[in-house]
Formats: sequence, structure tokens, C-alpha cells
Amino acid sequence: MRDFISVQDLSVAEIKYLLETADRFRTHDYEISKQLFAANLFFEPSTRTKMSFIVAERKLGLEPLELHAEMSSIKKGETLYDTARTFEAIGANVLVIRHEADDWMKELNEKLSIPVINAGAGTKDHPTQSLLDAYTIYQEFECFKDLNITIAGDVKHSRVARSNAEMLSKLGANVYFTGAPELMDESLGYPILTLDQAVEQSDVLMLLRIQHERHHGFIHAAIEYLEKYGLTVERERKMQNHAIILHPGPVNRGVEIDSSLVECKRSRIFNQMENGVYVRMAVLTKQLLNWGIIHDDQIKKCDTIERKQPIRAM
Ligand code: NCD
Repeated sequence: MRDFISVQDLSVAEIKYLLETADRFRTHDYEISKQLFAANLFFEPSTRTKMSFIVAERKLGLEPLELHAEMSSIKKGETLYDTARTFEAIGANVLVIRHEADDWMKELNEKLSIPVINAGAGTKDHPTQSLLDAYTIYQEFECFKDLNITIAGDVKHSRVARSNAEMLSKLGANVYFTGAPELMDESLGYPILTLDQAVEQSDVLMLLRIQHERHHGFIHAAIEYLEKYGLTVERERKMQNHAIILHPGPVNRGVEIDSSLVECKRSRIFNQMENGVYVRMAVLTKQLLNWGIIHDDQIKKCDTIERKQPIRAM
């Protein structure tokens, strides 16, 4: 795989390799013994993804370069391609890009001589989010096969829903959708449950925010949406004892989830954020290795003591 763009391009073996690598980064410190620059080009708002890429880069010893789109030459009409070429010319060794267009990578057209990592493409793909969600699920259940995973909310406009449904079903889970009928996408081919069915049957309930910036006209009062389509305290009580709650963030408290459930016992929302750092370290090193920018012997283990238990091999 040349660039890290879509879950579609990943084989099950590659996904498992990345999850195992993430687990090594969680349990040990590693550093790359070469000066390298990672450019973070975010043309859409981001807190978790951007900051966890920066932390991942710093932990590996890479130097992050940050573009503030509002203050950059994009405002003077520069294209994404020319911006990317500029970062390549000034010495970036890897580009991390988030952009509102579904197919922004087509503009780069494989003309760059450094790897590109997708940190979010329109409504289409968010492969590193899917990896961190899969890692969080594996941490909990140590398997994917036959797990019932329901993605609830604005499936139609969510790149997280698309990438996750594809990755988790590749790994053997049963994936379902639930939510307001106007926000479902039957063309994706996953079974649609009522929220009450989903709450009772799911091992993993993944909630999504309404993607207001990607569509207009779906306006519900928060309380009305929560009662109809959100995870209320009453519904949470009907979940199976072992079931967990995920959410990629940002959370709209009191809309898709009752505020008191964001940090409840079965919520893994903040674990997902922590895991984002490890999976992004795994993706960054894999791309740098694939491109021959670094070699295995340049990734140095810094600690000798295992700090945390590794999870069982995948
Ligand atoms: C998601 C995104 O940007 O697609 N957030 C994230 O990356 N953690 C989900 C969202 O914005 O709703």
C-alpha cells in the first residue's frame, strides 16, 4: 500500500499487524533515531485526531510541522497539491492530511515522493479512527468474531460509520446501524435495528454526533433527539452487563448521549482517545518503513521494563 488512505486498501493481516504494533507502542517506548519532519495539514476542525497525531509524532521523535489553514497561502488560492508539494520541498518526510472533500487524495495523484496519511476525508474515510476503535474493542473482548456492534446516529454523513463498518466486518464482527430514518444509508448494505433492539443486543454501541456541517435541514431539539434516538439513562440500563459504549468524539452531551453516561462505567470514550496515539504511532512507522525512509534498526526501544500488560496476540 503506497499511501494510507482507506480501510478498503487494508487486508485483515495488515490491520492485525497495525493493532499489534499499536499494542507494542502502548507497552513500551520507542524512538526513531533519525531527524524527520511530519507535516500536519488539517483543513477541517480537529481536536483528538490532530493532537494525537502530534503526540504520536513527538513520542517517536519526529518533529511535527503544523499548518494553520486560516493563516496559510490556501487563503491566497493555493491548491492542496501545491501546499503538499511545498511541505515536501521544505523537508517534510510524511504528510498527515484532513480535508472536507471525499476524494482530496486524487488531487495529489501519487505525484509526491513522501507518504500521505488520511486523517479524515469528507464523509468517506477515517481509517486511523477505525483502527483505534478496533484496538479499543480488542482490548475489551480479545476478539472480533461474532461480536454484535451497532453504529448509532448520523450514519449517512459520517466517515467514521463507513470506515468502521468496513473494518469491523472485515475482522469478523456483525455490524448494524440504528438511528433516525433520514440519517441511515441503506445502500451500504448493513442491517438496520431499532434503537431498543440495538441497546439489548449489542456488545459494542458506538454513538455518533449529528454531522451538522455536512447537511442542513435535520434540526431536532436536543431533548427530543435524545429521547427518540439517543442513549438515555433508561436505555443504558437495558444494555448487557459486559457491553461497552464508544464515541469518536466530539460528543454533543444531551443530544446523542445523556451527559451522565459520557464517563459511566461502560464508557470507553477516553480510552479511545488514548489509543489514538498508539495506533497513529503504528501507522506513521509503517508508512516510513514501507517507503524506505527508515529501517527497522532505526526504531530504538527506549525502556527495558514492560510498563503495562500487552494484550493477547490477535
Ligand atoms: C470524527 C471526525 O472528525 O470524523 N471525530 C474524530 O476524528 N475523532 C467524528 C465527528 O466529527 O463527529
